[in-house]
Amino acid sequence: MKIIVVGGTGTLGSKIAEELGTRHEIIRAGTKSGDATVDITSSASIQGLYKKIGSFDAVVSAAGGGHFGPFDTMTEDDFYKGIKSKMMGQINLVMLGKDLISNGGSFTLTSGILHSDPVRGGVGLSFLNGALNSFGKSAAYELKRGVRLNIVSPGLVEDSEKELGSFFPGHVPITMKRMVSGYVNSVEGIITGKVIEIV
Ligand SMILES: NC(=O)c1ccc[n+]([C@@H]2O[C@H](COP(=O)([O-])OP(=O)(O)OC[C@H]3O[C@@H](n4cnc5c(N)ncnc54)[C@H](OP(=O)(O)O)[C@@H]3O)[C@@H](O)[C@H]2O)c1
Repeated sequence: MKIIVVGGTGTLGSKIAEELGTRHEIIRAGTKSGDATVDITSSASIQGLYKKIGSFDAVVSAAGGGHFGPFDTMTEDDFYKGIKSKMMGQINLVMLGKDLISNGGSFTLTSGILHSDPVRGGVGLSFLNGALNSFGKSAAYELKRGVRLNIVSPGLVEDSEKELGSFFPGHVPITMKRMVSGYVNSVEGIITGKVIEIV
């Protein structure tokens, strides 16, 4: 399969790309790194990526951020930053790619554990994760030509523990191998409309 891994140079994406790359052709995409350039906050940029790549069989996204900080001082703009990036950025990969992807292809997006196990300062990410999970569970039913859609919801990964662990008290980091397994299940398996929780 020819697989586009958006965020393929990141903490999660580099491991996902490495594993899938043992069996498939991988195109890593990011705003300033990878094999191709894309900014998922821009529809035009996503359209440009798909045009440049031509045919493809799967899209995996482990990209997009949101606001992290005290709820008390959050502004409306802080919410919109994440809506534009992690939420609509990933949803637009599906919206703009669903008619271009091969028959039987798949989209795999990333949410995260904060939808169900919140931490202090995490409101700006938790609500995005919940929205992405609901998007995957509903939109998958309406995709045509056997195209599948799943959301992977990983816990804090071990490679991020040093940087982020103090913000996730009581969370046991998951191994990179377990994290990657969720994406392999989605891309190479048969499931669709699922939130694959890796905790
Ligand atoms: N780390 C964790 O423990 C963890 C756990 C659960 C969920 N998540 C979620 O997983 C996703 C990836 O996290 P990460 O820790 O792997 O992040 P990361 O290490 O910062 O990597 C982000 C990746 O996305 C690319 N990227 C950033 N902004 C982009 C944009 N606007 N358009 C296209 N590509 C973009 C980056 O490449 P460029 O620099 O070239 O743009 C990079 O390849 C995030 O949504 C995060 O919330 C992370």
